[in-house]
Amino acid sequence: MSFDLVLFGGTGDLAWRKLMPALFQAFRHGTLPLDGRIIGVGRDDLSNAQYQAQICARFDQVELAKRPSEEEFCRFAALLEFVQMDLSHPDDYARLVAKLAERQADVVVMYVATAPSLFTTVCQQLAIAGLNTPQTRVVLEKPLGHDLASNRAINRTVSEVFGEKHIFRIDHYLGKPSVQNLFALRFGNALFEPLWRREHIANIQITIAEELGVEQRGAFYETTGALRDMVQNHALQLLCAIGMEPPINSHADAIRDEKLKVLRSLKPWTAESLTQDVIRGQYAAGSIGGAPVAAYREETGVDPHSHTETFVALRTEISNWRWAGVPFYIRTGKRLASRDARIVVNFQPTPHAIFNSQIGDANRLVINLQPKDGLELHLLAQGQSNRRNSQTLSPVQLDLDFDKRFGSERVGAYERLLLEVIDGRLNLFVRSDEQEEAWRWVEPILEHWKNDTQGPRLYAAGTWGPSASSAMIARDGFCWAEES
Ligand code: BG6
Repeated sequence: MSFDLVLFGGTGDLAWRKLMPALFQAFRHGTLPLDGRIIGVGRDDLSNAQYQAQICARFDQVELAKRPSEEEFCRFAALLEFVQMDLSHPDDYARLVAKLAERQADVVVMYVATAPSLFTTVCQQLAIAGLNTPQTRVVLEKPLGHDLASNRAINRTVSEVFGEKHIFRIDHYLGKPSVQNLFALRFGNALFEPLWRREHIANIQITIAEELGVEQRGAFYETTGALRDMVQNHALQLLCAIGMEPPINSHADAIRDEKLKVLRSLKPWTAESLTQDVIRGQYAAGSIGGAPVAAYREETGVDPHSHTETFVALRTEISNWRWAGVPFYIRTGKRLASRDARIVVNFQPTPHAIFNSQIGDANRLVINLQPKDGLELHLLAQGQSNRRNSQTLSPVQLDLDFDKRFGSERVGAYERLLLEVIDGRLNLFVRSDEQEEAWRWVEPILEHWKNDTQGPRLYAAGTWGPSASSAMIARDGFCWAEES
């Protein structure tokens, strides 16, 4: 199969940090079809050779499992070409038409990794240039809009140009091997299914914690914030994966129908829950790994009086037969105590206690998403140290490390997703109605914050966020996993 992958934003941050390394990994793993061209598009006046040299230089600055040798990079570079275009300039699309006309690829992927303000322009111009052919697939990066109205506007314009089956909306969390494993755990094994419900589960905690601050993206982040950047997409996709009903098959729409039902079942916000069940925070100066780091308000591109949240913790419920009454807690933030993404499923305590044991962190399934990728089942057992007291149990844990089991050079998120686009599989991409439903649910929070002059609670960088986040969960009689 032959493909042309056109990368709008070909000289941008995402291209060189994530997409090119991912394409290179696919090439190295032998999964990228060899009859392909990767066509970077950008404003600079670059020859193919200059573009290749630029990518090569940048490979020194990104995380690659193993540096490519010169010979290996040269073979990859043979796939790379460059077209100079100003995307807001209709005449420039003729250059892309000419480039694509050089051959008839079986699949043409238009990857729009540009500022979101250009999404609709690019799609409209592609249509005018006659490049929305049956062979064409369009990939849109997040953020897709700023709120429900802007998301709908983008989806409306894009769908005038491309059918839904040709639109690949990326949420890179869906490409992570650990998230794949979450589906495998739930729907490839019968073991947990009978327990996966309100009768047996006390609460579920989804944490996506980062040590990084906003890096060079202060200006972007300032108008975005953690709710739009992480909750509306990544965290809600994880919540869907953990809470959805088993799909009738593994086809894209069967999976996406079930995820949509979860989003539609999320408990609607009330004035009271918006005040009590959503905590927003912002990092103050602190230290990460022993090194001092600046406050968010001191970052480049950030307003010194900014109210933008770098942390969100919230409590919600999935109001359906399976989950009614079970709290789902979501927490995400930058400059937190450690880089740690995980889902903790806390089971109900035993109905009647015959041992002197504190549950502590037992009775729990931990799905580690990153940096570790694996499963931990926390149980209670009678250890050797308790020989003299058979009434006391100790916490023990079954620990499955997927990197050890399957090797650490596994297919990365972008690598997998790019290959899925080339193969035309939509399973790991987000449908427009899912995305809109997620926006609909977060919008009352955004509205509430707009009118709240208090702003976010400050937390010292390197901690687990404002103490209000622990107080919120403590109201239900629970605590965050690391506090138990
Ligand atoms: C991106 C956000 O979508 O996800 C970033 O825009 C965030 O702010 C990143 O840092 C986190 O992704 P990962 O894969 O590093 O957990």
